[in-house]
Amino acid sequence: MATIDEDLMLRQISYIEKDNFSDPWSLESLWGAMVRDYNLIYFALGHKRKYSIYSFRGGEEILVECLRDICYKDAEEKPKEKLLMGYIIATDIAGETELLRIAVADKFKKAGIGRQLMDAYIDDLKDHCDKYFLEVRESNEVARGIYEKVGYKSISVRKNYYKNPKEDGVIYSMDITGDTT
Ligand SMILES: CC(C)(COP(=O)(O)OP(=O)(O)OC[C@H]1O[C@@H](n2cnc3c(N)ncnc32)[C@H](O)[C@@H]1OP(=O)(O)O)[C@@H](O)C(=O)NCCC(=O)NCCS
Repeated sequence: MATIDEDLMLRQISYIEKDNFSDPWSLESLWGAMVRDYNLIYFALGHKRKYSIYSFRGGEEILVECLRDICYKDAEEKPKEKLLMGYIIATDIAGETELLRIAVADKFKKAGIGRQLMDAYIDDLKDHCDKYFLEVRESNEVARGIYEKVGYKSISVRKNYYKNPKEDGVIYSMDITGDTT
C-alpha cells in the first residue's frame, strides 16, 4: 500500500509535537520510531469529516481498521487534502507495550480522535500484548481521563520525573488478562 508520504507524515507529526510538548521529538527520533521493528506509530489520516487509522511498523504501512472511519452526519464536503490529525507512538516488546506519545492536532481536538486512536492501539496489540504501560504528567487531566476510561489504572508516581516545567509523572498500567497484581 503506497498511500502515505512518509516524509510528509513525519513532518506533520513533528509540527504536532512542537505544538503540544515541551520536549518535542526530533525528526530523527520520529524516523527511528517509524523504522524500528519494536516501535509502532498509529495515526489518524483524513480531513475534517472522515478519517482512517493507519500504523507503521518497521517502515511497513498497514491500514489498522477501516471501520474506524468517522463520517459526520452533515458530511457534504468533498474530501480535501488528507491531513495527519493525531498519532500514537508505542513500543511492542516481549508481550508488553508502552505508549510513548499521543497527541491530536489542535484544530481536531475534542472530536473523539484521541479516544479512537487509543481504542485502535489497544485492539491492534491485544492478541500478543498482555500488559500496557504509560506515563503522564500528573496535571494532564484530559489524557488521564482517556486512559482511565479505556481501562488503565495508576500504579505509581515518579517524583519530579518531568522537566520544563518540573512535575511528577504518574505511571499507569493495564493488564488485559484481568490480572490486577
Ligand atoms: C490528550 C489528547 C490526545 C486527547 O485527544 P482528543 O482527540 O482531543 O480527545 P477526544 O476528543 O477523543 O476526547 C476524549 C475524552 O476527553 C474529553 N476531553 C477532550 N479534550 C478535553 C478538554 N480540553 N477538556 C475536557 N475534556 C476533554 C472528551 O470530552 C472525551 O470525553 P468523553 O469520552 O467523556 O466524551 C489531546 O488533548 C492532546 O493532543 N493533548 C496534548 C498532548 C498530550 O497531553 N498527550 C498526552 C501525554 S503523552
